[in-house]
Amino acid sequence: MPTALLERTAPLYQRVKSVIPPIEWPVFADDIDAILALKRQRNAVILAHNYQTPEIYHCVADIVGDSLALAREAMKVDADTIVLAGVHFMAETAKLLNPDKTVLIPDLRAGCSLAESITAADVRLMRARHPGVPVVTYVNSSADVKAESDICCTSANAKKIVESLGVPEVIMLPDEYLAQNVAKTTSVKIIAWAGHCEVHERFTAAEVRALRADHPGVIILAHPECPPEVVAEADYAGSTADMSAFVGREKPTRVVLLTECSMADNVSVNHPDVDFVRPCNLCPHMKRITLPNIRRALETMTNEVTIDPALAERARRSVERMLAV
Ligand code: 13P
Ligand code: SF4
Repeated sequence: MPTALLERTAPLYQRVKSVIPPIEWPVFADDIDAILALKRQRNAVILAHNYQTPEIYHCVADIVGDSLALAREAMKVDADTIVLAGVHFMAETAKLLNPDKTVLIPDLRAGCSLAESITAADVRLMRARHPGVPVVTYVNSSADVKAESDICCTSANAKKIVESLGVPEVIMLPDEYLAQNVAKTTSVKIIAWAGHCEVHERFTAAEVRALRADHPGVIILAHPECPPEVVAEADYAGSTADMSAFVGREKPTRVVLLTECSMADNVSVNHPDVDFVRPCNLCPHMKRITLPNIRRALETMTNEVTIDPALAERARRSVERMLAV
């Protein structure tokens, strides 16, 4: 590796050396250096979800966070181009909130099992079955589905959004487990859809009990996309940003994050004194995003996310209603 490149990227390596072995760094350094230059050249910012790998999350991203934070920050972006290092629905949300900006996703195939579990026609069917009941849609959904909804929510604000409507009953789509987990905390009746996250549905209550037995005193945090019996066995449930904040606030000696693999890597960089036990379920969609395809997207300005303006208008309303609560 050229000495100048090594020197330029050395401070970044210092940040991630606890999670990236020295032998891997030369593979990343060249792309990181090129991406940082391309961002300046294109007046671009990179928004990265908490599940992105550490070399993306800690070395090239400008804004990191959970789905809610990325949506909020997308509204404030002062750049010509947004690169969304995350999955397609996140890039669509960024585009809805920035119709005049170029939004790129490094791999257009980065989907989500929840977003793929439901169509706009399914939402219309649910409305026909439950006349007058408002539809609260998790942001993990396509723009088509958002356009058929009354309001969006994320895992960080789901209970608040459901209760903000002031009604006795809501339809909550498409994550059945998130809906069931919220239902346990509110008197609002929730009608759910049978969508699941392919990453979080794999955690089991027996696995949580085994983790406790193997690691006495461990604190267990679960994402609310996990099945309710898993959340019931955990010490705390929250969005990816909530889990990260919990670790910062409570400083547990030893912790488990029942969520996607990269999350523990990213949080551990900021909390070197915390021991992370790492049961690991990988999101294949999040892992489609890599340094080489971020670099290619910025070099070629390809993989642009576009949404029909009439559809976008309706979908945007659901996201903006959420952000206003
Ligand atoms: P968060 O909003 O908690 O970051 O979750 C997004 C997601 O895709 C979880 O699987
Ligand atoms: Fe979708 Fe689950 Fe992957 Fe999140 S972790 S993007 S909910 S499949």
